[in-house]
Amino acid sequence: MTIIRHLAARVPWPYPQGGVQDFIETHLLPYQGKSNWCWGLFLKSAPKDLIGSIEIRLSETDNRGFWLAKKYWGKGYMTEAIEPVTAYAFKDLNFDKMIFTNAKGNHRSGRIKEKTGARFKGLKPVNFVDPYYTEAEVWELTKDEYLLSLSKKT
Ligand SMILES: CC(C)(COP(=O)(O)OP(=O)(O)OC[C@H]1O[C@@H](n2cnc3c(N)ncnc32)[C@H](O)[C@@H]1OP(=O)(O)O)[C@@H](O)C(=O)NCCC(=O)NCCS
Repeated sequence: MTIIRHLAARVPWPYPQGGVQDFIETHLLPYQGKSNWCWGLFLKSAPKDLIGSIEIRLSETDNRGFWLAKKYWGKGYMTEAIEPVTAYAFKDLNFDKMIFTNAKGNHRSGRIKEKTGARFKGLKPVNFVDPYYTEAEVWELTKDEYLLSLSKKT
């Protein structure tokens, strides 16, 4: 629940038996490389153990999702992993802009967005797995802003 509470209410909870298999077969694989691009995150020291995931998707309202197993939080892993995925979205998939959202109060997730140069646009009502969260922060990052942020780093 530590992780899933931050996710949109469309994620079933309590997680049903066989849910992972069902997610992979019916929600992930049919769209992979077409309208969704999903990566597993692995430590170089343990390349067979999945510790998290990032997904980007064609959508008018939310182009990215991510999560990381709790014991790996706060080590900069998501900040590191987001970089090549964002580059792929803008440079290879040619996104003009990306919209990101997170539950209002999910500061870690918001911080990841800030660090990639995304602009806070406002709040909107959204249902999350945890009903404590009722609003989402909406962020936007255009390709031009992304390229500018890259040029400032070099
Ligand atoms: C969001 C999540 C992926 C962050 O992963 P992570 O690897 O811990 O993130 P990083 O370590 O790369 O960076 C986290 C940033 O948040 C900051 N942070 C940590 N705790 C914080 C807090 N309580 N309040 C504000 N910022 C916080 C960190 O300081 C860091 O920023 P900094 O580099 O400027 O110091 C992880 O917490 C997670 O999986 N959460 C549950 C699922 C989730 O929320 N997914 C996103 C849904 S939109």
